[in-house]
Amino acid sequence: MSESKQRIAIFGAGYVGLVSGVCYAELGHDVVVRDILPEKIEALERGEAPIYEPGLGDLLERNRERLRFTLEVGEAIEDADFVYIAVGTPPTYSGDADLSAVWTVIDELPEIARRIVVVMKSTVPVGTGGRVRDRLAARGLGHVGYVSNPEFLAEGTAVRDFMHPDRIVVGAFSAEDADAVAALHRRIEAPVLRCDVASAEMIKLASNAALMARISFINEIANVCEVTGADVVKVAEGVGLDRRLGPHFLRAGIGFGGSCFPKDSLALKQLAANSGYHFQLLNAVIEVNELQKRRVIAKLQRHLGPLRGKSVALLGLAFKPGTDDMREAPSIVLAGRLLAEGADVRAWDPVADGSGLHGVERAQSVEAALAGADAAVIVTEWPALAAVDWAAVAPAMRTPVLIDGRNMLDPAAMREAGFRYEGIGRAAE
Ligand code: UDX
Repeated sequence: MSESKQRIAIFGAGYVGLVSGVCYAELGHDVVVRDILPEKIEALERGEAPIYEPGLGDLLERNRERLRFTLEVGEAIEDADFVYIAVGTPPTYSGDADLSAVWTVIDELPEIARRIVVVMKSTVPVGTGGRVRDRLAARGLGHVGYVSNPEFLAEGTAVRDFMHPDRIVVGAFSAEDADAVAALHRRIEAPVLRCDVASAEMIKLASNAALMARISFINEIANVCEVTGADVVKVAEGVGLDRRLGPHFLRAGIGFGGSCFPKDSLALKQLAANSGYHFQLLNAVIEVNELQKRRVIAKLQRHLGPLRGKSVALLGLAFKPGTDDMREAPSIVLAGRLLAEGADVRAWDPVADGSGLHGVERAQSVEAALAGADAAVIVTEWPALAAVDWAAVAPAMRTPVLIDGRNMLDPAAMREAGFRYEGIGRAAE
């Protein structure tokens, strides 16, 4: 193993950088993670993971000897063979990806005489690799290599996704660099797809777009199910059994959120538009998702009439279970719409603190959220919700209306428990 051990510097101790860094250490490499936030680096030095991610803490602990954390660029680069960029690329006002953090890393690289390879993990527009190469050359760093090695990590399963990926994508300008980056992953069993840099950049964007398209597709099927009397849960099961389609990402609900999908869909839309192409399908995928979050309001109005003065409990705030991440969570739009309609909103979530939600009262338990409420909405399919004794809590509500935004509960059992229960894309009562 020792002959294949490499020295890796990772810029950015966010979700992707941290998980990647810890996993490269687990693969036997020496890793230095650099971030600009002192509190993050201090926490990591104490062995604490600054994010909630299953398995991350254990790997941090187990690989302490191979992991260092620093605020200093020089210290990170000192002995590095590979410089991974894993900084954020949030949307700008126009929806384009903001690459300023990427350019800061490139511009901060010291003059290095030896050949290192810069590896892009951040999600960037197609063409970024070429621009990075030009910028490096302009600084007299033309000998520095460049590889696009996108990540496909989902929150909550990021460590597993890294160690057992469906594929490893390596887009490079030279075979030598591609070989070097592929070799870092030697101990991972997965197909390695080698290609040019632009195609690697597009693989990441296209994969996300395809997953989002499936979600918006099944959500539209759900909406048609509602007006025609079919049940989308059964429909998705039947569709998913077709081997050409497969069962994944066919769960209808109140739409996707998270740190990747919303921003990456906008970035791809703008990337196409900036090149003069109107990406019609992607525009529809985004729009369907926006409308899907708002359909819950109409469902509530059908049961309660005008929402002014009504008390609505949101069960779950995180954009999906297993994370405390609130970025682009449907709960934010829902809470905002409910407050705008004049409703009182209270919320329960086992992990997410919902600190950005102004005007929303926090409940410490599901029971406390439901007590006296006119309606409840399941926003995040937390497993704890499946364990609630619904028959016992129903009488505590003013009116037992439950909108299951994730189709996680059994409609017949919920009606039996005394609820006016409605899912997404399933026959209403
Ligand atoms: C996603 C991609 O899966 C990952 O490959 C990429 O690197 C980053 O974006 P993540 O955002 O962590 O990962 O979550 P994911 O589990 O993919 O779910 C995204 C959103 O889609 C969630 O809001 C989820 O609730 C929603 N979703 C997912 C559905 O509504 N229906 C589905 O069938 C699947």
